[in-house]
Amino acid sequence: MSHDAIENLSHEDRAFAPSAEFAAQANATAALYDEAAVDRLAFWDKQARELQWETPWHTTLDWSKAPFATWFDGGKLNVAVNCVDRHVAAGHGDQVAYHFEGEPGDTRDITYSELLVEVSKAANALESLGVKAGDRVAIYLPMIPEAAVAMLACARIGAVHSVIFGGFSAEALRSRIDDAQAVLVITCDGGNRKGKPMALKPAVDEAVLQTPTVKDVLVVRRTGQDVEWTERDIWWHDLVDAQPETHEAQAFDAEHPLFILYTSGTTGKPKGILHTTGGYLTQVTYTHRNVFDLKPDTDVYWCTADIGWVTGHSYVVYGPLANRATSLMYEGTPDSPHNGRWWELVEKYRVSILYTAPTAIRTFMKWGEDIPARFDMSSLRVLGSVGEPINPEAWMWYRRVIGGDRCPIVDTWWQTETGAIMISPLPGVTATKPGSAMGALPGICAEVVDDEAHPVGNGGGGYLVLTEPWPSMLRGIWGENDRYVETYWSRWKGLYFAGDGAKLDDDGAIWLLGRVDDVMNISGHRISTTEVESALVSHPVVAEAAVVGAADDTTGQGIVAFVILREGVEPGDHIVADLRNHVAHEIGPIAKPRQILVVPELPKTRSGKIMRRLLRDIAENRDIGDTTTLADPTIMALIGTGLTTNPGTED
Ligand code: WT7
Repeated sequence: MSHDAIENLSHEDRAFAPSAEFAAQANATAALYDEAAVDRLAFWDKQARELQWETPWHTTLDWSKAPFATWFDGGKLNVAVNCVDRHVAAGHGDQVAYHFEGEPGDTRDITYSELLVEVSKAANALESLGVKAGDRVAIYLPMIPEAAVAMLACARIGAVHSVIFGGFSAEALRSRIDDAQAVLVITCDGGNRKGKPMALKPAVDEAVLQTPTVKDVLVVRRTGQDVEWTERDIWWHDLVDAQPETHEAQAFDAEHPLFILYTSGTTGKPKGILHTTGGYLTQVTYTHRNVFDLKPDTDVYWCTADIGWVTGHSYVVYGPLANRATSLMYEGTPDSPHNGRWWELVEKYRVSILYTAPTAIRTFMKWGEDIPARFDMSSLRVLGSVGEPINPEAWMWYRRVIGGDRCPIVDTWWQTETGAIMISPLPGVTATKPGSAMGALPGICAEVVDDEAHPVGNGGGGYLVLTEPWPSMLRGIWGENDRYVETYWSRWKGLYFAGDGAKLDDDGAIWLLGRVDDVMNISGHRISTTEVESALVSHPVVAEAAVVGAADDTTGQGIVAFVILREGVEPGDHIVADLRNHVAHEIGPIAKPRQILVVPELPKTRSGKIMRRLLRDIAENRDIGDTTTLADPTIMALIGTGLTTNPGTED
């Protein structure tokens, strides 16, 4: 019987140090760690001073009402001024802020001067509708420039935005608008998705029938498709285009609310994660500059996340703009009109920094490396990953096929709740190991602990916790302070528990092991799904794997794996046997799957995370539970088909 909170099974010897050339030009050096270690709050003070404050703060951190933090108390600033106005004032008005590429191929370059005009007009428009500081505004838009403009216009006037991902249903929209009591919804006729216009407005029309707080609906025209029109609807181009091109921005308290973003999790009512102004902007700016090594004069930066997720907030809008980045914004999907679209865009815009998710990387692995090979991607110099543990083989593929073996990879761990990156390599400093997020950033304190909150030490597995407050931390759950304390701060006194398992390797590098709710218990050994999945993905025929623990009479739980094969590989009986042996060989016989099912697809949330709960239903022969958060509801039927054609092997 093992006593580890979570077993440490896999072992990785490969490491990639930054090249001497990269290290020599990097924004962040090892000195940053020393500086933060000497005086953490003085370090954050210095980071905050990179921003433009109207009034300086008098207290860096007040933690006396923990877990409710006050950062930069007394300070006042305007987020939109920091993201836009100050760059224009400094003479960079002609620099492109966003290269926009629509899915149909339409393009638009927006300079910082143009962005200032757009944001000012939109801010005037919101004020003309009576929107005031502190009011909530729901934004339900696809990836178009107006999404960023709408967010910045809210920030400019101190209104609190709540962006709702464009793929969510009318009911999801209704409940979020209602929870935040929003006064305005900003939406559009529709977006372009896989070659077709996808209507958005009908969901708003349906939702606002039951949201009495909404006074107006502001509608951007994107696709030109027909829309129903009611009294409360206003065309964006009618209202915004007619506004004055300047807007006097007022500074807001550092703790003025900036946005609410709902995270669904797997159970319960969505949580409205609340972020505020000064600390949030400080940490997203600091992390964006140092983790991606952004050079504002030369880089073209592309974060592929949708603005409906926190990654889109922090690393498509606020961080990049605060650092005066030139970004690419792309409306569509990677396979429209062809599977090489992303790489075509990298070539076209000479993208130098790419930030994306493991789910995308594994999809590209499945499609085959001949697709990116058709494009010139020599402009790339830094690659980032976020959202899930990246399997070592997917990391190696990303490095070799996308990064041409020359780009450092930053595997960045964070959450909607943390607001900004917390654990990541620094690209010019850290020798990275494939699959590891490596260590806490300077200024951040993370530990891996056991059930009694004791640090597990190198070589041990357990729970990832954050031991000190950080500037971009959530300030609560909207309207639910008790739930905030209960969800994040109650498991161990004084520690923020993120819900993730992790281990430290012999060198103290951090490896994320997935959500602790997914940890399997096999004959008393607690085994992370991530390690078994990574072992499966390290086999050359496998593109993607999802592993769950299913009830087992003998062992408590047994490991059931669902795998997607790479394109061109024929499923056969020997494959299942090979894969089981491969896992046993890679990480030990205890982790050998009881059953392996070859499937065409995996159930994922709209943000690309695998829904293991539904796979457990299949593995335990239960009726499949709630599938409303699935990105593609037809997938469960496909997996059912996989089950009948491929019963797997048991011994
Ligand atoms: C959860 C947070 C952070 C923005 C996108 C997701 C998982 C995130 C990593 C990573 C392993 C990761 C964790 C975390 N996660 N990044 N680099 N390695 N796991 O935000 O939807 O709030 O999800 O995503 O499980 O708790 P989110």
